Amino acid sequence: MNRAERFLQDFHQRRPGTTPPAFSGLGLPGRGSSYDMLAATLAAARPGAQLLDLGCGDGFLLDLLARQYPEARLIGVDMSTTELQAARRRLTERCVLLNERAQSLSLASGSVDAVVSHLALMLMSDIEQVLAEVHRVLAQGGQLSAIVGRSFLLGEPGQRYLQVFRAAAQRDRLAPLPLVDPRAQSQDGWRQLLARHYRDVQFEELDLEWRPSFEEFWDALGQTYDLDRLKPATCSLMKDELHRAIQPLLRTDGTLLTGWGLLLIQANAA
Ligand SMILES: C[S@@+](CC[C@H](N)C(=O)[O-])C[C@H]1O[C@@H](n2cnc3c(N)ncnc32)[C@H](O)[C@@H]1O
Repeated sequence: MNRAERFLQDFHQRRPGTTPPAFSGLGLPGRGSSYDMLAATLAAARPGAQLLDLGCGDGFLLDLLARQYPEARLIGVDMSTTELQAARRRLTERCVLLNERAQSLSLASGSVDAVVSHLALMLMSDIEQVLAEVHRVLAQGGQLSAIVGRSFLLGEPGQRYLQVFRAAAQRDRLAPLPLVDPRAQSQDGWRQLLARHYRDVQFEELDLEWRPSFEEFWDALGQTYDLDRLKPATCSLMKDELHRAIQPLLRTDGTLLTGWGLLLIQANAA
């Protein structure tokens, strides 16, 4: 386990369930949230299909799948035990929850019909090994559907956030901690990563609009990996600096116009 994975595991042990509050309320007209969009990619799955949610966190997507596909057999995998405890509280016994690393799954080869993953795949270290392992557990032709991060905070608010965060990180002398493989940051990179084991690779860019007040903006950022690494005093200084930097962008109703750039990836096991 490398430093980035140790950080992620520690973060999710301490702070389970941070993703659904940030993303379940945002979406695209007629398509619902990013969780709904991922669930919709499984519409053609046969009744009784075995579905695996990789990096399932607190089980928000599994809960949606359980309601939408009542006959499906559901498995969630996550390396954080506290995320899985939260998932167990949310879900019925129908879902099998496994505390495992995606790089080394205990599932039998060819036993899964579809793998879904919401905002987790791009964070997984040794991504080539993860994609090989997903391919191993998928039945031939089985489906991989993942929503991954593409752009952290869209537009000018994102630029200003980055400037202010970089200054704060310097103040705390934070060592760089790359959580995402450079290849998992572009469509070309994903295509390269998927080429070995997958075919019919398709991408769709999803821009989810978000109109928070400054306080809502700050509260949501407080749940992110970046701010978690800052010292508390640096964090409160950063809040004032960010408020000053963002102030000119606030609209007359007191909200900011920004969003999250996501990428929907769909492929089949070769
Ligand atoms: C940003 S959260 C997303 C959680 C959930 N999919 C959602 O969107 O609500 C990323 C999740 O991936 C898990 N994770 C990251 N790397 C992993 C790995 N290598 N193996 C298993 N789980 C991993 C983390 O523990 C965390 O629960």
